[in-house]
Amino acid sequence: MLRAFSAFLDFCYLVRRNTITEQTLREIEDALARYHRERTIFEESGVRPNGFCLPRQHSLTHYVYLITEFAAPNGLCSSITESKHTKAVKEPWRRSNGFEATYDTDENFLQRVDNELVAEVLPQLLSTSTKTVVDLGCGTGRNTAKLLGFPSADQVLGLDVTEGMLDVARTRPELAEGMREGRIALGVWDVMGSDPLPFGNEQPNADALISTLVLEHLPSLDTSFLRVRQLLRPGAGAWVLVTNMHPVLGRQGGANFIDDANGGMRMWTEKYVWGPEDILVVAARAGFAAMQCVGDEGSGVWVRTVRDEEHARRLGAGSGKWIRKEVLFGVALVTTE
Ligand SMILES: C[S@@+](CC[C@H](N)C(=O)[O-])C[C@H]1O[C@@H](n2cnc3c(N)ncnc32)[C@H](O)[C@@H]1O
Repeated sequence: MLRAFSAFLDFCYLVRRNTITEQTLREIEDALARYHRERTIFEESGVRPNGFCLPRQHSLTHYVYLITEFAAPNGLCSSITESKHTKAVKEPWRRSNGFEATYDTDENFLQRVDNELVAEVLPQLLSTSTKTVVDLGCGTGRNTAKLLGFPSADQVLGLDVTEGMLDVARTRPELAEGMREGRIALGVWDVMGSDPLPFGNEQPNADALISTLVLEHLPSLDTSFLRVRQLLRPGAGAWVLVTNMHPVLGRQGGANFIDDANGGMRMWTEKYVWGPEDILVVAARAGFAAMQCVGDEGSGVWVRTVRDEEHARRLGAGSGKWIRKEVLFGVALVTTE
């Protein structure tokens, strides 16, 4: 606990400096990494048994980026910007993150690589005992619809923070039919928040959860994996499949969309670069292990490249410059207890 307080105070004193150098930024990152590592004592000792979903703690992850963009906060109280941020940014974002208008039609090559991976992996993972499956960050339902193709998945729950994405998902014929049959429910839910599920207070006790191309939007893997664990049934053997932009691609670009409402400008959203190792480490803390016997060399991890010119032609615009480079990965996890 002392180490957690010490790292937190280091962070606070560093960000309050009126001159911040590259070296200070590195020290801030180091203090934050130490704080995230050490604060698990508050979970282990039962002070925060369900993890950390605290907005002020969450905001720590934004300091380095925001200092780089806008200079030193110089002692500014973060609650001033925080209260404005909710009204000015969070509420409009929840109504529409701007992606939904073009998400299914913008020929994003990463979605196509994801389609290839998901088509290969889902049949390996979905067994007859997989009854209830959550699609977390389901967006417009691209992969939610695929889950409905497996008869064993008799209850599918699609969750997303953005109402606009769910509105598009509801118009997909497979999803509309699933809703009529009572086989699928869609609802707004923020994995980084602390609200209960939108389907009443009951936990879904899901057998499995998929979350594709979502992690790059999440500032904390620890928070999301603890929340994911709570959606799954207790005990060993429930599984999770996540796919995400590979860090090799993530460090160069991020999620973006053409905003027609803004003169057709390309808009870039906030992004976080996570790799397979980050996921394995954080997931282990939340009670998951890499699934054996699937993935590249049975590691539970798949890494995908744009293989060659022919592959790039099929994947479409933007993929050519990524030939033989890593663009996407998937990780299959299983609960250990
Ligand atoms: C790139 S889209 C992926 C959508 C879909 N999973 C797919 O593969 O096509 C990312 C989705 O994550 C959702 N998302 C972002 N942050 C989230 C959060 N904190 N909780 C739940 N969903 C979130 C966004 O609203 C968006 O629909």
